[in-house]
Amino acid sequence: MLVRLLYVSKEIAEQPSKFAESNLEKFRKSNQANEITGVLCSGEGVFLQVLEGERSAVNKLYVDICKDQRHIDIELLHFEEVTERAFYAWSMDHIPVSTLYEMIKIQNPEFDPYLSSGKLALKCVIDYLRLNDEPK
Ligand SMILES: Cc1cc2nc3c(=O)[nH]c(=O)nc-3n(C[C@H](O)[C@H](O)[C@H](O)COP(=O)(O)O)c2cc1C
Repeated sequence: MLVRLLYVSKEIAEQPSKFAESNLEKFRKSNQANEITGVLCSGEGVFLQVLEGERSAVNKLYVDICKDQRHIDIELLHFEEVTERAFYAWSMDHIPVSTLYEMIKIQNPEFDPYLSSGKLALKCVIDYLRLNDEPK
């Protein structure tokens, strides 16, 4: 059974962080092995991440991520069963939060992932990738 999950969290970093740069390759390898796809949006102290894959694999990773001390205020925004992947080509793509926000705020100037609908945030991420990104 395939599922898709979206959460938001806040990064713990005193300096502007290179979290994605330093960790993405590792995450991609591990996600590939576990057939997890998705996207990590990071920057401006925020993480927005979509995970999709088999329900047990996604749950296991999400529990690990929740225990990870590199971020706080983790909030589940959306969880759904799906029939196909939206991010089938990405073992973990990366989008800078600033560019994602630019697009979202054209239509939703007040957008704040902690206050907005998870469905809306997910739709914005998917639309952004369809318009702007190449599979990796
Ligand atoms: C914002 C954030 C996103 C993460 N995304 C992933 C991911 O996509 N895949 C992954 O394997 N680990 C990810 N991690 C790391 C996990 O929290 C955890 O450290 C890792 O799965 C544990 O792997 P290990 O116990 O095999 O070292 C992420 C951590 C953070 C803070």
